[in-house]
Amino acid sequence: MAGAEAHARNARTDRVGAVARPAREQLNILRRVNPEGKVAVVTGAAGGIGGGLVRALVDRGARSVVATDLDGAGVERLRDELPGAPVVACALDVTDQDATRALVEETEREIGPVDVWFANAGVSTGSDADTPDEIWDRQWRVNVLAHVYAARALLPGWTDRGEGHLVTTASMAGILSAAGDAAYSATKHAALGLAEWLAFSYAGRGVRVSCICPGAVDTAMLRAGAGGDPEKASAVIGGGEVISPDEAAERVLDELAEDRFLILTHPQMREFVVGKAQEPERWIRGMAKLWARAQAMLAQ
Ligand SMILES: NC(=O)c1ccc[n+]([C@@H]2O[C@H](COP(=O)([O-])OP(=O)(O)OC[C@H]3O[C@@H](n4cnc5c(N)ncnc54)[C@H](O)[C@@H]3O)[C@@H](O)[C@H]2O)c1
Repeated sequence: MAGAEAHARNARTDRVGAVARPAREQLNILRRVNPEGKVAVVTGAAGGIGGGLVRALVDRGARSVVATDLDGAGVERLRDELPGAPVVACALDVTDQDATRALVEETEREIGPVDVWFANAGVSTGSDADTPDEIWDRQWRVNVLAHVYAARALLPGWTDRGEGHLVTTASMAGILSAAGDAAYSATKHAALGLAEWLAFSYAGRGVRVSCICPGAVDTAMLRAGAGGDPEKASAVIGGGEVISPDEAAERVLDELAEDRFLILTHPQMREFVVGKAQEPERWIRGMAKLWARAQAMLAQ
C-alpha cells in the first residue's frame, strides 16, 4: 500500500510541478518504489537484519532474492525455512572483490539484472585506540570497502541500463557514535560518507543509493555486546528501543517505498542528530556521561 501511495504522490508532483520530469526519470521512480518483481541481493543474510530483509522482500513479491553470507550454511538454512519462496542461497565473503563480481555476473546470467543490492553485512568487535591494526582493517574491509566492491561490480550495468539501487547499511553509529567501539564508529561514518558520495555522483545516471542507519536491533551483533542481553547492550551503545530484525526490515522497505536516501529504523533518534549538529560540544558532554554509565553497567 505504501508503494501505491508513493506512486500517487509522485504522479501528483509531476502534474503540478513547475518543471515536468523527463519521461524516463518518471518511469524509474515508478519502478523503484516497490520490490515486487525485482531481483534483489542481500549480503550478510544468514540471520539478523539481513535475514529479516530477505523475508520482507519475499513477502512483498520480489521475483528473486539472492541471500548471501560468509556463513553459507546459514543462508541455506534461511532458504529452507522459506519453502517455495524465490530465494537462492550462496556463500559470499563481501571482502572478496573477485567473488563479488562473480556473484553479480552469475546472478545476471542465471536470473536477470540485479535491481537492488543490499550491502548489509557488517562487523563490530569492540575497539579503542589501542586495538590492533588487524581489527581496524577487518572492520574497514567489511563495513566500507565491501560497499566499494559492490559499487564497482554493479555500476557499469546500472549506468548502461539507467537504473539500479544500492542500499548500504551503516548505523546510527555512523551519524552519532557507538560507545565502546572506535573502529565501528569510524567505519560506519565512512560508510555513510561513501553512500552520500555515490548517491549524488550517480543520481544523474539513473542509479539510486540509500543508506540504512539502524538503532538497536535484536541480533547476534547486538547481543554480543553485553553477554547476550539486548536491552543492556542497547543501553551501553545508546541504541534506543530494541526492535526485532523483522520489524527493522519492514521499516526499511517502507522507507525505501518513500524513495528515501537516509533510512532510520528509529526515527525518534533524529532529535539526537539535530542536537549533535547544532551543539557538538554539548553532545560530547552527553556522550561522556553515557560512556561513564555504560562502563559502570558493564562492570556489574
Ligand atoms: N543490530 C544492530 O543493533 C545494528 C545497529 C546498527 C547497525 N547494524 C548493522 O546492520 C547490519 C546487519 O547486522 P546485524 O545486526 O543483523 O548483525 P548479525 O551479526 O546478525 O549479521 C551480520 C551478518 O554479516 C555476516 N558477515 C560478517 N562478515 C562478513 C563477510 N566478510 N562477508 C559476508 N558476510 C559477512 C555475518 O556472518 C552475519 O550473518 C550490519 O551492517 C550492522 O553493522 C546493526
